[in-house]
This record gives sequence, C-alpha cells and structure tokens, in this order.
Amino acid sequence: MTHVATPLPAEMPLRIGDPEDFARVRTALRQSGFEESAVYQALSKAGFCFEDDPLASPTRSAGVTEFGPLIELFVEQKDVPRKQLDHFLAADTITSLLNLDLVRISESDPSKYYSPVVLYPINGLLIASDYYKPPQEGRPQPVDSVYPALHSFGLLRVISRTRVSSALDLCSGTAVFGLAMSKDAEQVLASDITARSTHFGLFNRCLNGCTNVRIVQGDLYEAAGGESFDRIVAHPPYMPTFVNAGVGQTWRDAGPSGEELVEAIIRSLPKYLRSGGEFFATFMARESDQAPVEQRARAWLDGSPDEFDVIFASKKQLSIRQVISVVQEKSHSPTDIDPAKLEASVRALGFSHYVSGIVGIRRHNAAGKPWTFRTELSRLTDECSFRHAFDWNGRRADPVSNARRLRPALAPGLSVTETCIVDHGKLKPEKLILEADWPFHHTVKTDMWIRAILEHFSGRSTVGEVYAKLTSTHTLPSGLSLAHFVDLVSTFVGRGYLDVTTSS
Ligand SMILES: C[S@@+](CC[C@H](N)C(=O)[O-])C[C@H]1O[C@@H](n2cnc3c(N)ncnc32)[C@H](O)[C@@H]1O
Repeated sequence: MTHVATPLPAEMPLRIGDPEDFARVRTALRQSGFEESAVYQALSKAGFCFEDDPLASPTRSAGVTEFGPLIELFVEQKDVPRKQLDHFLAADTITSLLNLDLVRISESDPSKYYSPVVLYPINGLLIASDYYKPPQEGRPQPVDSVYPALHSFGLLRVISRTRVSSALDLCSGTAVFGLAMSKDAEQVLASDITARSTHFGLFNRCLNGCTNVRIVQGDLYEAAGGESFDRIVAHPPYMPTFVNAGVGQTWRDAGPSGEELVEAIIRSLPKYLRSGGEFFATFMARESDQAPVEQRARAWLDGSPDEFDVIFASKKQLSIRQVISVVQEKSHSPTDIDPAKLEASVRALGFSHYVSGIVGIRRHNAAGKPWTFRTELSRLTDECSFRHAFDWNGRRADPVSNARRLRPALAPGLSVTETCIVDHGKLKPEKLILEADWPFHHTVKTDMWIRAILEHFSGRSTVGEVYAKLTSTHTLPSGLSLAHFVDLVSTFVGRGYLDVTTSS
C-alpha cells in the first residue's frame, strides 16, 4: 500500500528549541507533582475513556482531589491565569515553556496562558500529543492529528524489556513506543507517515532526552531501508472505512477492510525481523471459527511462515454491526453506508465478527516446529507474559524425558473452584474450575481427578515421580500414558496454573 507523505504544514505547534529549555522543563515538571496518578484522575474526571481494556487502567491515586495549574493547562486544556502559573513555576521555566511553544499567551485574553497541545506523563516519559477531546471552537482537529499515547497503555505494558541491539516503532505517532523501548535497546528507529507526528516525535525525543532514538517520516518500513531489528512494535490505524470515504483521519482510517496496514506490516516481518526477534502489534481484524485471526496473521507472513511462532491475545469481540456503527458515528462521510449491505458483504467473505487484541510474533533462533496460540489479555498480562508463552510453547517440543524431570509447583495466582451436584440428598463434588490471570486469562472446567495432580505439585517432586505415584494409587484415568501426562502438565504450565520457574 503506497501513501503520499503529508507535507509539513506551516502552522504547527511545538518548537524544537534549545536542549537547556528541554532539560529545564523536564526537571521542573517532574518536581511539580505532575504525576501519572494525578493526571489520570483528572482525565477520568474529564470523561476520558481509557477504553474498556483490561490492560488500560493506569494506576490512580485516591488522594488527589485538587488539580494544580499544570493539569488544568496541559491535561484539562483550560486557559490558566498567567499570575497563577507565574507564581507556581520559576520565571526561567515559564520562559522555556514559551520558547518550546508548550505554553502560549492567549490571543483573546492576554492575562491567560493556554497550551496548544496535550502533555502528560506516561511510563516515566513526558509525551505531547494533540487533543483527545472533540475539537474545541477555534481549535479544529487536523486530519493528521497526533494520536494521544493515552490509548496505548495495553501495548506499552506487554512489550518485552530484555536488552536488545535495535528496535523499530512503526506508525509511531508521538513515538511513545520508540521512546519507551530506548531504555532497553541500543538504537531505536521510530517512523510515521505524517509530518505532524514526525515533528511531535522529534519534540518528545528532545523533551525526554532519548538520544538513541531516530525519528523519521516514512510509509511503513520505508525509513528502515535495508536495516533489520530485534524488536518491532506497531500500533497502526485499523478502523475499516468500508467505502472509499475520502479524506479521513490518518491515525484511524485504514482502508475499506481496516486490515490493509496491519497485513502489510506482518507480510514484511520476514524481511525486517531478525532471528530471535519479537514483534508486537495492537489491532482489530475480522475472523470466524474457520479463520481465527492468529491463523490469518500466520498466513500473512510472506515466504517463510514456518520460522515464526504466533500468539494472539484477544481483548474484545465485536459484532459486525457494532463496528459499522462506530464507523458511522465517527467517520467523516458516513451517510452512504448501508449497514445491512455492509454486514452481508463482510459475511460473504466468510467472517462472522471482529476481534481486537495484541499479536506477538517471534522468529525462531533455531530450527523448531512453528506453533500458533490463542489466548486472552487479562489485567495482569505484562512484559513477561508473551515471553513466557513463547518460551514455554517452544519447550513443549522437548522430549518427554526432559519434561518429566521438571518440578512444577502450584502457581500463586491459580484459583480453583469446586462445583458440586446433589447426589442422593448429599453434595457430591462434580467439576473443578481452574482460573489464572497470568500470563494471560485462562479458565477451564475440568474433572475432579485433576485436583489430585495439582495437590502433588509443590516444587519438590518431578513430573515423572508424580506420574508414578498417581498410577500406583490408580488415581489417574486408566490408559493415561506418561507422554499424555507430561502434555497435560505442560498445558497447565502454559496457562499459568502451574509454575516451573524454580525447577531444575
Ligand atoms: C493509532 S495511531 C498510533 C500512534 C502511536 N503508535 C501510539 O500508539 O500512540 C496510528 C499512527 O499511524 C500513522 N500512520 C498511518 N498510516 C501510516 C503509514 N502508511 N505508514 C506509517 N505510519 C502511518 C498515523 O499517522 C498515526 O500516527
């Protein structure tokens, strides 16, 4: 898919000023209580929706009730009396804020300041973006509006934190992922198609003093040239337009199917992702029972799909009608959309619904059987979750002789519920429900004999020893071989019911 890069508009907020101005503002904001908890409380109060995403609820403090002038100015987008801010910050900090165009003197009331952008702390970074509210009078929302990183918590939280040599942030917007990855990568490239996002990305790089991040304007991988990367992260636009809707929002509209960009990004992974490298992206796509999104993503991998393991962690399932309604509500020219016809056309392609979530793809280091895994995000899914699934699913190919020597223990987050039936007037245990929220959300209703297996794993006995003991006491169903038993235990480890971190 080829896009024409947007030319740099003459009128853009934020000035890439002197390093001293950036350093002064950075220090002053950090020392002034401009904290994540206060900012998120103010955002929630202002009606900001952190999506109904299990991962997207940032830490909130119950203590903060009054928001200072910085939150009014940068988060609530209010005009603030100059006297108030001049009293709150040192004179040289105000000068630096004006120099960087983070603050302006109001044209209509020169006794007040306003900010032409939204500015907030996120993941230890200070990020400037465009507004998150509907456009205000006199401040129209540009089509290349810079997407607020406040919607990007979910993906931020799952990106691996191991040291790598190079990382790529595609469709970077504010460059929030690139800047976050700069803590763990020697070199980072962040690239976005619009001049406006590129400008904001450069500004944010300077504001956070991340000298190892290059910010470049380009269409998808264009800026990467011949480079390849150990870690690639993308949050591309993924909303379908269904019809050719004309000029839409660059951050949101992703062509008629909504899958054009994410498909193009995954297609090129064999070229840009190094061996052992990992890719993470958040998106929404169509699927059905016959064509689940993780299998569709695998099929997109051009050339060498067998070198890749694919995990899709779902966040939310949406009906075709729900997606059509969102598009009708938000897009610029929705009037010619006929929901019934559109739904029929999506169904005719073999899809039954949409699903949103995060895909993780790892390229093998060594030859191995590729595998594909579907799971569900939970509020505890974190930067170790995908790694756990990648490592553990990879180990399932190990010979039974290796796996039987593991010494699993009950995972601390496992919850077990026993359900009973009434049998001859008495309660009789019937089923067991196992549930865990790390690495992902998994729940299963299973048979009572599973309880005996779980009770024998305390980290002391090996899988082989527990199998021998349970076989001698006839606790296991007859005919359950050691290989099947090992497979069952492996599934429980993969799902977070059992833990092998302390195993030898
Ligand atoms: C949903 S926003 C995400 C921004 C940022 N990654 C984040 O999560 O906060 C999508 C971004 O993709 C950019 N974009 C759209 N089409 C693109 C393309 N063909 N190549 C590169 N970037 C693109 C938009 O300008 C926008 O900044």
